[in-house]
Amino acid sequence: MIFSHDVVIVGAGGSGLMAALYAKEGGADVAVISKLHPLRSHTGAAQGGIGAALGNEEEDHWLWHAFDTVKGSDYLGDQDAIEIMCQDAPRTIIELEHYGVPFSRNKEGKIAQRRFGGHTRNFGEAPVRRTCHAADRTGHAILHTLYDQCVKNQVRFYDEFQALDLIMTPDGVCCGVVAYELLTGEIHIFHAKMVCLATGGYGRVYKTTSNAHASTGDGMAIVLRSGLPLEDMEFVQFHPTGLYRLGILVTEGARGEGGILLNDKGERFMERYAPTVKDLAPRDLVSRAIYREIREGRGINGKDYVYLDLRHVGREVIETKLPEIATFSRTYLGIDPVKEPIPVAPTCHYAMGGIPTNYDGQVERAGRGSIVPGLYAVGECACVSVHGANRLGSNSLVDLVVFGRRAGIHMAETLRKEGRRKEPLPENPDRRVREMLEDILSRTQGEPVAVVRADLQQTMMDNVSVFRTEETLNTALEDLKKIRERAKHVVIRDKSKRFNTELMDAVELGFLVDLAEVITRSALNRTESRGAHSREDYPKRDDENWLKHTLIYREGEGAYRFDYKPVTITRFQPQERKY
Ligand code: FUM
Repeated sequence: MIFSHDVVIVGAGGSGLMAALYAKEGGADVAVISKLHPLRSHTGAAQGGIGAALGNEEEDHWLWHAFDTVKGSDYLGDQDAIEIMCQDAPRTIIELEHYGVPFSRNKEGKIAQRRFGGHTRNFGEAPVRRTCHAADRTGHAILHTLYDQCVKNQVRFYDEFQALDLIMTPDGVCCGVVAYELLTGEIHIFHAKMVCLATGGYGRVYKTTSNAHASTGDGMAIVLRSGLPLEDMEFVQFHPTGLYRLGILVTEGARGEGGILLNDKGERFMERYAPTVKDLAPRDLVSRAIYREIREGRGINGKDYVYLDLRHVGREVIETKLPEIATFSRTYLGIDPVKEPIPVAPTCHYAMGGIPTNYDGQVERAGRGSIVPGLYAVGECACVSVHGANRLGSNSLVDLVVFGRRAGIHMAETLRKEGRRKEPLPENPDRRVREMLEDILSRTQGEPVAVVRADLQQTMMDNVSVFRTEETLNTALEDLKKIRERAKHVVIRDKSKRFNTELMDAVELGFLVDLAEVITRSALNRTESRGAHSREDYPKRDDENWLKHTLIYREGEGAYRFDYKPVTITRFQPQERKY
């Protein structure tokens, strides 16, 4: 079937819904297609909060927020975009409040704010309370509110439709997407004036992750396959505190409320690594510190985890401000954080890199200003770049609402200026998708998807996680070469058309393999350490050669090309990062 809309948004998390809401308010006919029911989008898993210099608890300024974000990014974030985000953040929070987000309150009845890693007062003096929250269910509250608003404003939803390809004209204009309807097994064409990808991250590339099963990087992989670049893919964030072995997020808000990390000797080891902000250092630093403690034999009982201790914080704070993580800890580990410390280890959490965009969400095919007409990207799948080499906690929710809104406004304005006429569809726009699905369905011999996926996730975890060397990265590339061949021959047992999730698993495996390869190649290419990219064979940051963004293009199977673009610096010259 062919569906036709002015704007088609792919993905129904926070950024997609913000873009939908604003495009709709601007007069566009907007459709959101989502492979999940919108309320299952991964934004719902965001716990600790959303950063904005409201100053409700103590003095704060957007410029302090901007400085912290630039420093946190290890000076790779584009400072013009960071200024926009931090300046717009307080207004955005008030707007979310007016939409109905039930933020926690302080004693004065204002939106409550807590400390988070890397957020400081007065350019690094001491931690500041900047992160607004709804207990530790902030993403859940925002997602539900935005969905309500979209439904109220008559945004059209296509739930459980999985986007599998972009439709591009021969002149390189994006005019739609091809999607697979899970319920019926039908392939549909969505013909649009503008397409906005809001498909989230790729955490499922790794064995241990805080990300949902659906976080398979679909939008990024589709863009790569369309001959467009991905930016800064070497920068993968590992959140320091995942529940041991499971990877489920234990919010940084736990440390914001006073929790501390302990090693086997009972030492508060972050005092050694970040003497000023200690446990509230940025994530790249804390994750490395945890692994160093483990490597040096100070993991708990000599094992590969440390403790997050909340006992001194007290029952009341735990039950009222951190109820979600208390429940997770009790349910999954049988540990009551009121009485015992929680076993934690780093977990893959966030993609700093992604689809290059300007700050109105327009996708760029090369450097600044080289727009792909009709194509937008927002949220985690996009790289604006406000997070550079390392994102600060609570800057992801603010990124997705600020830039989701800007993209929505821009799409509506473009429509007003250019009119509703769409580019005609090219011949057989769904050919690639039909061939891909027919190929998977026709196979009779091969391995199950889960076996190949597990091997992919294991090699990425072993070789391309917090610490990397040329040797580990080459090992990963060797493994990925074999895994790619195996992935081409996976067999699915379900050949039906009704809710065939196994078929989609096979497709997603292909996306994961593509992304694992670009992450690994980008990591091998960048011969320095910066933010979350820690090369043990190149331990220093090298501004002379590497103060630039990486663009990676796929030029056929196994063939890649790198290009670069400069980092935008406005106010803050690169300095050594000390906390
Ligand atoms: O720790 C957390 O609550 C995660 C927040 C974030 O990634 O921004």
